[in-house]
Amino acid sequence: MGIPVFDNLVEGVRKGSLIVFAGPPGIGKSVFIRYAVLNVLSNSGKVVYIVFDEDPTGVLADLTSAKNISIDEIKNRVLVLDGFLVRVPGLEESEYTAVDPMNPIEALNTMYNVVKPHASEIKLLVIDSINEIILRNEPGIVLDFIKGLKGLCKRYNIISVIVLHTGIPGLDQIYSAMEYLSDSFVEMGFDPSLEQLGIPLRRLRVRKLKGASHSLDWVPYTIGKGGKIMVVDIKKIMESVRTALAELKTLTTEKR
Ligand SMILES: Nc1ncnc2c1ncn2[C@@H]1O[C@H](COP(=O)(O)OP(=O)(O)OP(=O)(O)O)[C@@H](O)[C@H]1O
Ligand SMILES: [Mg+2]
Repeated sequence: MGIPVFDNLVEGVRKGSLIVFAGPPGIGKSVFIRYAVLNVLSNSGKVVYIVFDEDPTGVLADLTSAKNISIDEIKNRVLVLDGFLVRVPGLEESEYTAVDPMNPIEALNTMYNVVKPHASEIKLLVIDSINEIILRNEPGIVLDFIKGLKGLCKRYNIISVIVLHTGIPGLDQIYSAMEYLSDSFVEMGFDPSLEQLGIPLRRLRVRKLKGASHSLDWVPYTIGKGGKIMVVDIKKIMESVRTALAELKTLTTEKR
């Protein structure tokens, strides 16, 4: 997949799998997705990129600078479905194919129409994020959308990677449904024990993967310059913990 950390935790990913990256804001979901897209761009093949959370022009510009290739080549290989600009009132018509998050079944049809002519070349389909569909529709419709997406990707052997924002109250049922419908579920979050000590450490684990073995370990990671994902050295974490505990000790001594 070309996704750091994840690739090392799994034996492999079956073609046609649906992978969910779930986590709170700022944890790095979009950064991980970007790696998967850049990996396809480094090899051969096309990507369908369904953008709900930001201006697709920014997403394409980001990919262009990361790969140092022309915007025309990016547009030829990254087929954007725009679910963002389509809802901004007063904007001129978007240059991208529109998908309406309020109408997931029509969105599925649009996805089929975009995928079909390029099916043999498309290696990856990404959605950032699925919450737009979840928040605007009945749970039953959301499940129909996910099942339809699974059907589409299985038929054409396309791996799909979906971003799911967690931590929104009242969505627990749909989060569980997303987990059982997915072929692979990646849980991301800040380490709760270290967070209490004031050390914000990102980590992820693969909770499930159909059809291949995988590790269940949490792996701590950090995001460096240019959005580079790096595995955190456990020794460095221990040093931070020791410093935090020493500061705590000084504070309690001073209080006495
Ligand atoms: N190009 C970049 N250069 C440096 N750091 C970056 C870059 N892109 C992202 N980051 C860092 O990674 C963090 C996570 O970014 P990302 O957008 O992937 O989070 P996310 O989980 O998708 O958040 P959200 O739920 O808000 O969409 C950012 O807060 C920032 O610190
Ligand atoms: Mg994001």
